[in-house]
Formats: sequence, C-alpha cells, structure tokens
Amino acid sequence: MTDKQPIIAIDGPSGAGKSTLSKLLARELGLVNIDTGAMYRCVALAAARRGIDPEDHARLGQLCGELRIDFCRSAAGERVLLDGEDVSLAIRTPEISLLTSRVAASPAVRQALVGLQQTLGRAGGVVLEGRDIGTVVFPRADAKFFLMASAEERGRRRFDELRARGVEVDLAQTIAEVRARDEADSDREHAPLLQAADAVVIDSTGKGIDAVLAEMLQIIEERTACARS
Ligand code: DC
Repeated sequence: MTDKQPIIAIDGPSGAGKSTLSKLLARELGLVNIDTGAMYRCVALAAARRGIDPEDHARLGQLCGELRIDFCRSAAGERVLLDGEDVSLAIRTPEISLLTSRVAASPAVRQALVGLQQTLGRAGGVVLEGRDIGTVVFPRADAKFFLMASAEERGRRRFDELRARGVEVDLAQTIAEVRARDEADSDREHAPLLQAADAVVIDSTGKGIDAVLAEMLQIIEERTACARS
C-alpha cells in the first residue's frame, strides 16, 4: 500500500490529442500537467533568437542550462513562461515547430530536458505528455498511454487549433508539416518516437474527447488500484 501520487505518461505523435487529454486528466485527478513538447519548443525559440545553429549541440546543451521554463495557469488558460516572458503563442508558429524537431534531435538537449523532467516528476502527482515519457523519462510510470490518430485528422486538429489562436495557416500545408514532423521524430537517432511495450494504445480517430478521457480514467483507476493493493 502506497500513498505516492501517480506518474502518468502520455506519448504519441503531434496532434493525437495529447495536450487536451493530459490537461483534462490532470484537472480531473488533481495532478500537475507537464507539457514536455513546450519545453523543447522553448529551447528552439531561445536558440532562434540567439542565432544558435541547430547542429551546434554543445552550445544548445549549454543554452538549456541557462534557460528558465515555467508553466502557470491564468484566466487565459495554461501559459508557458521562458525567463519570465509569456511565450505560449511564440513557441507554436510553424517555423518554431519545424526548428523544434531539429533541436529535439540533439542528444545534449535531450539529456538536459529529460533530467529536468525527471526532477519535476519524481515525487509523483504528474501527467507528462511527450514522445519518450513511457520509454525514457519514466519507464516505470504508473500508467502509460500511446495516443494516435490518422495524419489527416491530426493535421486538421492542428489547423483548427492554430486558427483559433489567430495564427494564419493553410490546411494542406499543416497536414504536410504533421507528416514531416512525424518522420523526423520517428527516424531520429536519439530517442525516436517509440511505443513502450506496456503502453495502452488508443486510436482517437473519429472518437470524441469525452470517450477517450473516460477510457483513460478507467485504465488509470485499474492501474493505481492494483498498485495500492
Ligand atoms: O508535442 P509538441 O508538438 O509540442 O512537440 C514539439 C516537438 O518536440 C516535436 O517535434 C517532438 C518534440 N518532442 C520530443 O522530441 N520529445 C518530447 N518528450 C516532447 C516533444
């Protein structure tokens, strides 16, 4: 019997619903939501602003140690702060999305951010969403999910999300970018997008958020009940 708060891992390709579902799960279960993609995006934004070459791994690794990334909740929803500046919108442009894929392939960046994520989540009480949470960051998480959906559906969701935020984008281009990022994230040498053998795979194509949320809550309840008994 343990009172330790759970660690929930949610992995999967971009646009599969990870952000929405991890926020909802965190709210429902009273856990802290950690968007690890936003952390990689912050490093990419800072690198772009400082003119750092995405292939300069040593400089990128050093940069990670210089940055302060915080998450906070405001009336406008969850915000991401980079050295105190609200960069929630700036990290989501198509340019930064593409650059993030390259920056996230750097072993020095991965080492720094994985360490930070482990520190943030070690005590439990967290939902972490990303690409390597169940495989690398917390291989012993209490519940692991791998969320997926078709590339068309994921592109359309990303398109709607960006438009709602006031970012001007084209649908076909957004779908093409989702595919390009999938390839980059799956083919990279370091920590490629992989499904943990013990992850529960959920295909959200054509499913409503509520149905997927209910499915995930039930699995978490089963897993954490087993761990408590
Ligand atoms: O989840 P997202 O679309 O915000 O992720 C942005 C990029 O960061 C994407 O290219 C995948 C990468 N990423 C990663 O490599 N590892 C993570 N744990 C999270 C995101």
